[in-house]
Amino acid sequence: MRVLLYSAGDDAATWVAALRRALPAAHIDSWPAPAAQPPDYALVWKPPSELLGELARVKAIFNLGAGVDALVRAASLPGDVPLIRLEDAGMAEQMAEYVCHAVLRRYREFDVYAEQQRAGVWQPRPPARKPGFGVGVLGLGVLGMAVASALMPFGFALRGWSRTPKAVAGVASYVGRSELDAFLAGTQLLVCLLPLTRDTQGLLDRSTLSRLPRGACVVNVSRGALVVDADLLDLLDSGHLAAAMLDVFVDEPLPAAHRFWHHPRVALTPHVAAITRVEAAVAQIAAKIGQLEAGLPVSGVVARARGY
Ligand code: NDP
Ligand code: OXD
Repeated sequence: MRVLLYSAGDDAATWVAALRRALPAAHIDSWPAPAAQPPDYALVWKPPSELLGELARVKAIFNLGAGVDALVRAASLPGDVPLIRLEDAGMAEQMAEYVCHAVLRRYREFDVYAEQQRAGVWQPRPPARKPGFGVGVLGLGVLGMAVASALMPFGFALRGWSRTPKAVAGVASYVGRSELDAFLAGTQLLVCLLPLTRDTQGLLDRSTLSRLPRGACVVNVSRGALVVDADLLDLLDSGHLAAAMLDVFVDEPLPAAHRFWHHPRVALTPHVAAITRVEAAVAQIAAKIGQLEAGLPVSGVVARARGY
């Protein structure tokens, strides 16, 4: 069996070594090194279109990340090949850490205390009340569920929004556009963990963000294009929104001139909320290749029509 690897911006040697350990009988090639024969499987992250165009005959393409937005948009992605994404593979724990930090930072007003410290002010704030602090997770998939579970012990009023209903004790389930306004109205801190698709692009615009209660906070850890930047900035400037914590942006790296960089109500990180862990990713992919070779179904196959 032949496996072809391409992971933009990564050290291919680390991936190749991990793949050789996990699939000792396989021949591992790293694109663009010339391969003697066409691959059976391709493992890619942000592949050039030239490479995608060569993959029409592989048995499956594995995406070395959870989000497949860039791949499904690529004109050169072969139409009939199964596309399989990473599911958790070490990312859920990181995402839970990131979001719990953002929620507690906001709920316990650590940014206010940081400002007070800079001003030399000793001023305890009145205790916040958890029942009035709704945390809403947009997207209750692999990562959204992990985030909701990690938040559960803190006792916040949790709610989630998804395409299909969820029955999770302690998380109120809201479904589809018809329930979006009700979901937003009770959300003091909004976490975005939706995939970027035709349906979700620009979802967080002036109209939807205005449905959040005054003083709400937005945490975007999915993809930048879910948010309309100018609308988010306007609502932060007007005070309708109190803060935003952003890990993902329409253009990455975030351009130096972008207002997010220096906005007093924006905290940002460089797309690090949950990074792909090589060993965990390779273990998951090797197990799935084993299942496919045995003629068994695997999870994580992308439904191209819905975009995730
Ligand atoms: P999943 O596919 O497991 O979950 C997606 C969730 O979004 C599902 O609950 C799905 O609903 C819901 N959803 C999708 N479309 C809609 C819609 N139109 N309306 C309502 N709900 C919708 O994805 P993951 O949890 O694994 O990952 C989520 C995203 O996180 C990735 O796509 C990626 O963009 C981002 N990510 C960011 C990282 C970072 O470091 N910042 C790292 C890893 C991922 P349903 O359950 O009903 O299908
Ligand atoms: C992913 C990411 O989708 O790293 O896995 O953003």
